[in-house]
Amino acid sequence: MRRSALAYIAAMTSTNDIRRSFLDYFGANGHTIVPSAPLVPHNDPTLMFVNAGMVPFKNVFTGLETRPYKTATSSQKSVRAGGKHNDLDNVGYTARHHTFFEMLGNFSFGDYFKEQAITHAWTLLTKEWGLPPEKLTATVYHTDDEAFDLWKKIAGLPEERIIRIPTKDNFWAMGDSGPCGPCSEIFYDHGDHIWGGPPGSSEEDGDRFVEIWNLVFMQYEQEANEIVSELPRPSIDTGMGLERIAAVLQGVHDNYDTDTFKALIAESGALTRTATDGEYKASHRVIADHLRSTSFLIADGVLPANEGRGYVLRRIMRRAMRHAHIIGAKEPLMYRLVSSLVSEMGGAYPELVRAQPLIEETLLREETRFRKTLENGLKLLDEATVGMAEGGTLPGETAFRLYDTYGFPYDLTEDALRGRGLSVDRAGFDSAMAEQKAAARAAWKGSGEKASDEIWFDIAEEVGNTEFIGYASTRGEGEVRAIVKDGARVDSASAGDEVVIITNQTPFYGESGGQMGDAGTITTQAGFAATVEDTSKPLGRLHAHKAKVESGSIKVGDTVSLAIDVDRRDRIRANHSATHLLHAALRKELGAHVTQKGSLVAPDRLRFDFSHPEALTHKQIAAVEADVNGQIRYNEAVNTRLMTPDDAIAAGAMALFGEKYGDEVRVLSMGRGGPLGEELHYSVELCGGTHVNATGDIALFKIISESAVSSGVRRIEALTGEAARLWLTERDDKLRQTAAALKTTPEDVPARIAALVEQSRRLERELAEAKKALALGGGGAAKAAGPEQVGSVSFIGQVIEGLDPKELRGIVDQNKATLGSGVSAVLAVVEGRASIAVGVTDDLTGTISAVDLVRAGVEALGGKGGGGRPDMAQGGGPDGDKAQAALDTVKAALVSVPAA
Ligand code: ALA
Repeated sequence: MRRSALAYIAAMTSTNDIRRSFLDYFGANGHTIVPSAPLVPHNDPTLMFVNAGMVPFKNVFTGLETRPYKTATSSQKSVRAGGKHNDLDNVGYTARHHTFFEMLGNFSFGDYFKEQAITHAWTLLTKEWGLPPEKLTATVYHTDDEAFDLWKKIAGLPEERIIRIPTKDNFWAMGDSGPCGPCSEIFYDHGDHIWGGPPGSSEEDGDRFVEIWNLVFMQYEQEANEIVSELPRPSIDTGMGLERIAAVLQGVHDNYDTDTFKALIAESGALTRTATDGEYKASHRVIADHLRSTSFLIADGVLPANEGRGYVLRRIMRRAMRHAHIIGAKEPLMYRLVSSLVSEMGGAYPELVRAQPLIEETLLREETRFRKTLENGLKLLDEATVGMAEGGTLPGETAFRLYDTYGFPYDLTEDALRGRGLSVDRAGFDSAMAEQKAAARAAWKGSGEKASDEIWFDIAEEVGNTEFIGYASTRGEGEVRAIVKDGARVDSASAGDEVVIITNQTPFYGESGGQMGDAGTITTQAGFAATVEDTSKPLGRLHAHKAKVESGSIKVGDTVSLAIDVDRRDRIRANHSATHLLHAALRKELGAHVTQKGSLVAPDRLRFDFSHPEALTHKQIAAVEADVNGQIRYNEAVNTRLMTPDDAIAAGAMALFGEKYGDEVRVLSMGRGGPLGEELHYSVELCGGTHVNATGDIALFKIISESAVSSGVRRIEALTGEAARLWLTERDDKLRQTAAALKTTPEDVPARIAALVEQSRRLERELAEAKKALALGGGGAAKAAGPEQVGSVSFIGQVIEGLDPKELRGIVDQNKATLGSGVSAVLAVVEGRASIAVGVTDDLTGTISAVDLVRAGVEALGGKGGGGRPDMAQGGGPDGDKAQAALDTVKAALVSVPAA
């Protein structure tokens, strides 16, 4: 009966069905179905990738975090390719090693414990899935009598199939620190046609008995491999490799013979026209496995790099690419397999579907690039090992040359030699690497760098570069690698200290490319709290958190929680993306000569300097604004890809001339339609900054000033989002106040102001005319309008306040006519300044010069000069209050004139 149930399942059950039925079983039994967390862990700095189902729940087990549920179930994406659980080297050569796998698990956070866990496991395996009980064996930790008895009671297993194991195999820990406890493993007997014995037997290394499920009775927490405390309440963590149980339920022994792998392997066989089970069997398996890990890692935001997680990704990719080369693939292969993977797994993991274009593009670029050096590297390897007998060792220096010149990660070289029974001298490789670093240091010192930067150089070299995890997350944990206080390294920091903290990884962006550094907090569970005011990026490799310690203390080696000020970062993101749109809009509006000359992306505003010979007109500014806002409303996703600088520029990215770019650059594309019509995206730029997810996040864009920076360079300052809204509101408020003062509506303000300006012009005109009329005798305001006798000369002198100086000549002429023969001097005083005009009737110009008289008057007014002709001259001076004195000076000059 049972065998036929199994046969039925084998025929019908796909890996996708098994995943579903596992989650459904626990869901129906009160567990919350929790989606897989991303592969990059956010709650553990010591962990490179999530490597077990319990990792996302780590803090729930220890009691640091509470969730709205006490039991949960998940199918967790896991990668084991580095660190404590590293399977990379074995993948392809065994039936069950993978770099990527899915771990099915059920969890109890202080809810049920051993009895319920064993009951669930047994029920699911034997009742739901119909596995024959006689094929199952359990192990328990050697002192765990309770688990032993429960297996007897619940499953009715005979004592010889409940095996006590005294080793670490039955004590599970996530890493050197974290929750842990004794465990009980369930083994499946694949049958006596395969060599091997039950766990604990002398034949246990055989492949007949395969562990399918691990039930961990979480009870303790450890630090540095030592148990330091008990968990608040006993809990359950279980893990079942989906690939293994799929093999069992599909009636095959080898994980690579399950449906998902068979489909991927068949595709790589078809594309390369090679048999999948012949001499290239291992290579096809490596490719299928590595395709899964690389695709899922890229989908979760990891991109190939030369260090950190990105380097692990690159190692996995290149290992697969070498195997594609072994099979004889004539062109890049990996990217052509992505669609098969998406059709196998995209249903369960929608992120794979979303990221498909990015995955394909990243794989294609990496493989294209790597193939260029692969062949030469392999040739070098062949030459270096020619005639080497099995058991021989490749000199470390050669492995280093392969790494440095041909991009062969160390483990790729190892893998390439493995088939021939050769190994690599690791110590030699390490010392070649150290030598290169020393040379780089000497070169750096010789290049005249600032002495104050030497401390950063020391730190970077000793503790490594900071890995930036802030593209995808706003918080995370990091390990303190160095603390700097007053320019010197210290071991610890405590309340009141102002220090710079360096961690192994951080979500804090370090100021670069015009984008300001992040602010936020650094804390520990033990009560340390620091405010980070700013983050810089010394040497372009370290993220230096400038922190003020508020309470508690930390030392180098501590684990800290890093959380950026999310609201501030969101505003920075919006301003940065808006800067890109602005750049594109300016090129569209003004022409392709527009290039970036500088920028500042701050939380409260953005500034963009660009080449353009003249001020923008109001119309141009309005058009740029309208364009940017139009792109914002399209609300299209902002795209990030990793390319070589050349490819990026070929793809239309705007690069900064003279800027130094690394091997790889991030390329940001956003918006619809290219500014010059030919590109797919409105904006394509090389940029390492942080950006919005979709342009709609910018919300609103407003230019608030346009000015000159230097000749040929203009500057625009602008606001986005809430800052732009506030600015507009304030403007509106001022307009409202203006309208109220003008006793009109905001709509009528322009018309009202035009009317007022017209009115004031008219009044000015009328006033000037009135003053002139007054001066000409119309009233009593002008002094001494009538002629008087000065010495032998008839004279009319006047000082007129507020008279337009242009009127002086006319008045003097009139006075001359009145006099018939004589002299007239008239002064106009306007805003403290005085102007003077002097006229002499023609009969007197032989003896009196108007020019001389004006000069004397001007001098009295504190001025210089004055000129004209002998019959009419004019001038002025700054001392309007001396007008009367100036008139007196002129009069005094006339006293001595001889009678005609
Ligand atoms: N966390 C346990 C494991 O990974 C279940 O095996």
